[in-house]
Amino acid sequence: MPKLKLITYGCQANDLDSERITGLLLREGFTLTEQEEEADLIVLNTCAIREKAEHKVYSRLGSFQALKRQRAGLKIGICGCVAQQEGQALLNRFPYLDFVVGPGQLTAIPTLLQAGAARGVATARAAGYSYPVDAPVQRRSGIRAWVSIMEGCDRFCTFCVVPFTRGRERSRPPQAIIEEIRELKRQGYREVTLLGQTVNSYGRKLTPPISFVELLRHIDQLVGDYMRVRFTSPHPSDVTDELAAAIAELPSLCEQIHLPVQSGSDRILHQMKRGYNREEYLEKVALLRAKAPDIAITTDIIVGFPGETEEDFQATLDLMQEVGFDGAFIFKYSPRPHTEAEGMPDQLSEEVKGRWLEHALRLLNQSSLERNRAYIGRTVEVLVNREDAKVDTVRHTGRTRQNKIVHFRGDEVVDGSMVQVAITEATPLYLQGEIVC
Ligand code: SAH
Ligand code: SF4
Ligand code: F3S
Repeated sequence: MPKLKLITYGCQANDLDSERITGLLLREGFTLTEQEEEADLIVLNTCAIREKAEHKVYSRLGSFQALKRQRAGLKIGICGCVAQQEGQALLNRFPYLDFVVGPGQLTAIPTLLQAGAARGVATARAAGYSYPVDAPVQRRSGIRAWVSIMEGCDRFCTFCVVPFTRGRERSRPPQAIIEEIRELKRQGYREVTLLGQTVNSYGRKLTPPISFVELLRHIDQLVGDYMRVRFTSPHPSDVTDELAAAIAELPSLCEQIHLPVQSGSDRILHQMKRGYNREEYLEKVALLRAKAPDIAITTDIIVGFPGETEEDFQATLDLMQEVGFDGAFIFKYSPRPHTEAEGMPDQLSEEVKGRWLEHALRLLNQSSLERNRAYIGRTVEVLVNREDAKVDTVRHTGRTRQNKIVHFRGDEVVDGSMVQVAITEATPLYLQGEIVC
């Protein structure tokens, strides 16, 4: 049987696409391998969000050139956002590449692999909802699953390549989502994460329209407290009273939100076309905390956007201080093709961006440590999951409803079970404790 080596970069949407690609190719008779030396097909599922992500793909691809010479019949394909962004140019630039397939075109892969097929490109942007592809998703985890509920993005933030790589926003019909989650529950999954680029603007364009919160309520009725439900990433502008109330009320919905802010400066937020200002963001945070006091809030921040001044950056630090984030991904701004910000004047130097990044990371460290220390002495519900294990010295690992990683000691526990853990220690990145039952 031919062997597939699949390499995945990027966000959860890409993780899920890789599980779809695996499903498609297993049906075609492939088996999975970790070793690229023994692969008959190598697929890179790529990310274009920052220049560095794109460069990683090219250097990995370069390393396969020799392999291609040694192994007759080896095929190499690129999928994902770099595929969509670059298209035919990739085939021109890398003569040993066999196919290029955008995120909306996964079902083209088997055809492009047929014996005697010419090198090919499938990057037409999907007009409709592309999920599920007509083969079962081959999930890596048996405990938590990604469930796509919408694709694409209409917001066109000036720094972001996603609307160009993933196309316009389209929502998946609620019935299909419910059916998928029903099946996941039947299979014993304990957690689903609903995925979408602006996941909380779900459903408005469907006929009949349905709101994100209505969908969450339907899901809650189905899974109750057996399954945990998360979603990522919501857009601050669409955080509503109803959503905050749902987080507080629904047993399945976890007290956790990843709410990208990007900047604390009104001037920069405006330049980014984010659609909210600092005060509005802070109001959303206050609303969430008022309704669900136990909520953990994480974010994304970009430092060094074109024209950003020390004063703007300071406003971001102030906002970080004011909110006290549980965690954050902080990025140096990276100019991306097709985006408005790429052509903006006053692009900042790597030196400035690097300095600001370090500064912001130090502040983040303090706030996440402080937030995590507040758990010391509390007993929390942990979903046991070995996939989260990073430390060998403790026996078990899992996550709290707030999505905090917990390493804990105790007798044997079953992967996928819920246990109570008394928290005894905290670091900025995880909690530690002892199992109580
Ligand atoms: N849909 C999500 C973001 C997806 S991209 C949202 O709107 O929140 C994930 C993160 O990558 C973004 O939140 C942003 O912080 C970062 N990012 C996107 N484009 C970037 C760029 N050009 N340079 C640096 N970081 C970027
Ligand atoms: Fe990108 Fe903005 Fe859309 Fe998020 S909302 S995917 S940052 S364009
Ligand atoms: Fe990257 Fe595409 Fe996701 S650019 S972050 S893989 S949507």
